Amino acid sequence: MTGADDTDAAVDVLLRARDVSLSFGGLLVLENVHLDVRRGAIHGLLGPNGAGKTSLFNCISGLYVPQQGSITLDGEELLTHAPHALVRLGLARTFQHPTLDPHLTVLDNVLIGADARMAGSYVTAAIRLPLVGRAEKQARARALELLDWAELADDADLLPGSLPYGSQKLVELVRAVMSEPRLLMLDEPAGGLSHREIEKLSERILTLREEFGFTILLVEHHLGFVGGITDIVDILVEGHNIVTAPAAQAQKHPAVIEAYLGQAV
Ligand SMILES: Nc1ncnc2c1ncn2[C@@H]1O[C@H](COP(=O)(O)OP(=O)(O)OP(=O)(O)O)[C@@H](O)[C@H]1O
Ligand SMILES: [Mg+2]
Repeated sequence: MTGADDTDAAVDVLLRARDVSLSFGGLLVLENVHLDVRRGAIHGLLGPNGAGKTSLFNCISGLYVPQQGSITLDGEELLTHAPHALVRLGLARTFQHPTLDPHLTVLDNVLIGADARMAGSYVTAAIRLPLVGRAEKQARARALELLDWAELADDADLLPGSLPYGSQKLVELVRAVMSEPRLLMLDEPAGGLSHREIEKLSERILTLREEFGFTILLVEHHLGFVGGITDIVDILVEGHNIVTAPAAQAQKHPAVIEAYLGQAV
């Protein structure tokens, strides 16, 4: 149930991580972690607090450099690229807590996603000249379309700080979608949302795959939310892979039940 076979050519793997180990000082955060995200999949990355989920996301998106291992996107090694190049290669992510620019409107925050595709990262996009002419017009139209899809069109000219937390997370999701990634990575998209907002989010994530064709890797704590939308989940516990399986199967695995002892799975 655990492990992945490198020789399985029949499986179309978009993102592949192998033997990723990361430590901070004496603290081993990830140990020989592996991950295979199939093209077109909605893939869950789960585990209790401190399991290393965000750290693995940070390794994939270039914010952390693991001491060991390989991470490839469509066969191209990501670890040799600077973080700012990774958006251009087709990675986009959201953060556990939204990282919007508080001084820019919702629309301008989303437009950073379009700039990032060309500039290479949200950071460089935020400090460079905006897109010009036809490209800008197209990007604005697309941003408004996506904000409408997220039911945020009426908020386009507001500052993000005036929106509820759930809406801010959604703006960040729209910003990531704007960069038209090959792999969309969402770090706890349901965290802090109401029950109703989580239901809407599940529908939207399914739409992102069905209508936009994205491959999605999403971090979650609980199997409940991801069970209905993921094809497969990887469960990390204390920096180790425990199980790779469909959510319903993973939920029953003894190692998972033990890891979640006393917590909701
Ligand atoms: N920059 C860092 N410096 C030192 N330790 C770190 C750093 N980033 C993460 N860690 C440690 O790595 C471990 C895993 O943290 P991480 O944030 O990846 O877990 P997580 O699975 O995302 O947890 P959560 O569900 O709470 O978000 C924790 O012990 C954390 O303190
Ligand atoms: Mg985390």
